[in-house]
Amino acid sequence: MNEYVVEMKGIVKNFGQVQAVKHGEFNLRKGEIHSLIGENGAGKSTMMKLLYGMYPIDEGEITVKGEAMKTLSPKIAIEHGIGMVHQEFMLVNELTVLENIILGFEPKKGLTIDFDKARKDVEQYINQYNMEVQLDKKVSQISVGEAQRVEIIKTLMRGADIIILDEPTAVLTPQEARRLFEILNNLKQDGKSLVFISHKLNEVMEISDRISVMRQGGYMGTVNKDETSPLDLTKRMIGREVFLNIDKDYSKAGETILKIEDVWIPSQKETSKIRGMSLHVREGEIVGIAGIDGNGQSELVEAITGLRRVEKGRIILNGEDITNKSPRRIRNSGLAHIPEDRNTRGLNRSMSIEENLVAVRLDEAPFTKGILLSREGQDAYSKDMVEQFDIRPTDYHLPTSSLSGGNAQKVVVAREVSMKKKLLVASQPTRGVDIGAIELIRNTLEKAKKEGAGVLLVSAELEEIISLSDRIIVIHEGRITGEMMASEANENNLGLLMMGGSDAGKDGEKAV
Ligand SMILES: Nc1ncnc2c1ncn2[C@@H]1O[C@H](COP(=O)(O)OP(=O)(O)OP(=O)(O)O)[C@@H](O)[C@H]1O
Ligand SMILES: [Mg+2]
Repeated sequence: MNEYVVEMKGIVKNFGQVQAVKHGEFNLRKGEIHSLIGENGAGKSTMMKLLYGMYPIDEGEITVKGEAMKTLSPKIAIEHGIGMVHQEFMLVNELTVLENIILGFEPKKGLTIDFDKARKDVEQYINQYNMEVQLDKKVSQISVGEAQRVEIIKTLMRGADIIILDEPTAVLTPQEARRLFEILNNLKQDGKSLVFISHKLNEVMEISDRISVMRQGGYMGTVNKDETSPLDLTKRMIGREVFLNIDKDYSKAGETILKIEDVWIPSQKETSKIRGMSLHVREGEIVGIAGIDGNGQSELVEAITGLRRVEKGRIILNGEDITNKSPRRIRNSGLAHIPEDRNTRGLNRSMSIEENLVAVRLDEAPFTKGILLSREGQDAYSKDMVEQFDIRPTDYHLPTSSLSGGNAQKVVVAREVSMKKKLLVASQPTRGVDIGAIELIRNTLEKAKKEGAGVLLVSAELEEIISLSDRIIVIHEGRITGEMMASEANENNLGLLMMGGSDAGKDGEKAV
């Protein structure tokens, strides 16, 4: 057999006017982990969706295990041993993990489903690759990391030996990412061939055998991991160096703009997830919240933005008590919010880029006094936003549902930051965006701060928290376990506090 299990040559794919892939090349060896990298919108997801048969190619050839594929569909791809784990999971929340895994492929005993056999088969994979999953839990009750393991088991149950993972670590905590990497290495040892898409170059350097680069729908070459570096990869991806070091200026912090006083907040599953937390953010400063995902940061942000009720305590924004007020009311009091989930909360996916950019502004002061933005005004504004924030494609009449992941995020950031509110709550603002866009978004937050906004930053990336924040607050299990200036912070002292920390008791009590 051919050296390659997959060969894609001279691939072209257009969506209407948009040339998603202009000349795509990709090949995959048996038993390797091959990373695919490139800027937002470079065509990575499209290339892999073509391999998985989700759209037909316009031009080119796809060969799988030596067989030229005349036509492809997900069904044919699965029959040829190809599996894909999408960034947006496709699990049914109300079913159990086991039911999800066998959905559509149920082993039968007579007319009924043979759950015993299914369970045995699944358990075999769980043991073989050391993937912890709880088969009888409902999907709605498991973590993102576990849901991802379920998706991987699903592909294995359907016989996949070629597995595509589209930005699998974007939604994981660093701890969960570590576990995923162990599983990927186990799969590789067993002779599976893996495609790994990521914007995180340190991960790419760790996990890959080879790395292919795409730029604007084109193929920019393939390198062996041992012969490249993050700097080299960045240059191949975007043609220049990127500087993530923020030139911080912490001289102008002014009035307190957000004040949180002894708040208690429930989560979906438990009462008092946040247990007596007090903090404040001043004008002209960035306060970073560091913590392992799931320790209350989402609940805190939802309470501030009016999406979750507070049990007790007070939240003061701009001198106004906004505790348990509606999201709209809180926005009007001076809040902008980059939500952690751009798909469900950040954007209306059926509306155009322009409509999304303009939507929240229409009920704002300058526009409610009968001075609705004119047609030309909206166009000029959208054009400006698309340029400033490097949103691609630049046609702002396109629906946001057709945007690549990172470009959708840029639309949300553009809209929220440009409102110039007093407080900007930014949750995972650079999740899923490429390194050039990370630079842009970080500089944007720093600029908002210099112009006097208070910024509350929640990020799973410690490096981001440290480089962007002026002050850092560490939380663990719904309490503050420490606070320090960013200049004193490093991954070690923050990591310790994130685990509960040595002085957890002391500061935790103080917060109550
Ligand atoms: N279904 C679609 N309809 C219209 N345009 C699309 C569609 N899917 C992708 N595109 C466009 O094709 C281009 C490539 O998108 P793709 O999703 O492949 O990028 P990507 O490299 O995966 O980016 P990201 O890192 O942001 O996920 C983008 O300009 C995108 O807007
Ligand atoms: Mg993508």
